[in-house]
Amino acid sequence: MESIFVTTPNKTYPILFEQSFELLADSIKKQNITGRKMCMIADENTHQLYCEEVKKQLEKVSENVYCYCFSAGEKYKNLETISRFYEFFQQNRFDRKTVVVALGGGVCGDMAGFAAATYLRGIPFIQIPTTLLSQVDSSVGGKTGVDFNGAKNSIGAFYQPELVYINTATLKTLPKREFSAGMAEVIKYGCILSNDFIHYLENHKESILSMQHDVLTEMIRQCCLFKADVVSKDEKENGLREILNFGHTIGHAIETIFDFKMLHGECVALGMLAVLELAVKQGNITQYQLEQIRELLHYFGLPLFVSDVSKEKVYQQMFLDKKVNQNKIRFVLPKRIGEVYTTSELSEHDIIKAIEFVVK
Ligand code: GLY
Repeated sequence: MESIFVTTPNKTYPILFEQSFELLADSIKKQNITGRKMCMIADENTHQLYCEEVKKQLEKVSENVYCYCFSAGEKYKNLETISRFYEFFQQNRFDRKTVVVALGGGVCGDMAGFAAATYLRGIPFIQIPTTLLSQVDSSVGGKTGVDFNGAKNSIGAFYQPELVYINTATLKTLPKREFSAGMAEVIKYGCILSNDFIHYLENHKESILSMQHDVLTEMIRQCCLFKADVVSKDEKENGLREILNFGHTIGHAIETIFDFKMLHGECVALGMLAVLELAVKQGNITQYQLEQIRELLHYFGLPLFVSDVSKEKVYQQMFLDKKVNQNKIRFVLPKRIGEVYTTSELSEHDIIKAIEFVVK
């Protein structure tokens, strides 16, 4: 399948779509980053599943392949883990040419990318995303970082990889709940950029759920096309890229409150529903369109509401987010399905109302 390119002011890099790791070495050769030390960073799950296979590929282009394995999970996405990465890098005398290879989901990619962005002021890195969420979103576009003091992704850097290598076969080993979480980000693209894509998802939902290869790959590729286009126009989120935060303002707050017992995509699903409900009240979308999206989220196993938390707590938590500017919270809201706008002017009353739709 044809590659997609992300073009930013300082770098152009490809996103590749494959069904195995067999072409990884060749892809690295094409990027001219061979003959260097390579450090694979994996969590314990991806380490066990894919490390050997990926290592074999890396050994075709490097005589010194290292592997660092860390504990899986959002609760380890912090500066302590990054410190351990740096220690490993130093112990093995990694230099500016060393290539970091992130093998895993969003947590792994964000952290390996951040370590690569900051070690020696920046060394090259490759993304090999193995979850649906990381394949359609986090591995593309150069957002790297960690959580800090209860604030999600609040320490980080924009730092683009040399290459994103997507092996869709890795989705076969993905737990069902993780697949569902990824579908929230997939549905997000339809809400913000294309009603046609929502129809595509509706028309192919059975094939997607049963992981029919062609449909799944086409869906992932379409998401990467959407994302590459947005990032190429606004790498550092000075404007347009904000639309990718659709559903994230309320979603991040819920995610943090539940101390990462809920998955990111599950919280994004709730955040999207909250603002879609608000959009119905504002007359921007119809109740029918809202039900269509709710039905899709439900079909893919995503939560439609959450209990055991107060709406006030969610509201307060939102002020800790990066999307707060001069104490005003930035929202991405639907104009219609497939088009959104951003605003800081939502009243406290409207924000609480939006939260109420999903916090029961
Ligand atoms: N996940 C949102 C972004 O990459 O901008």
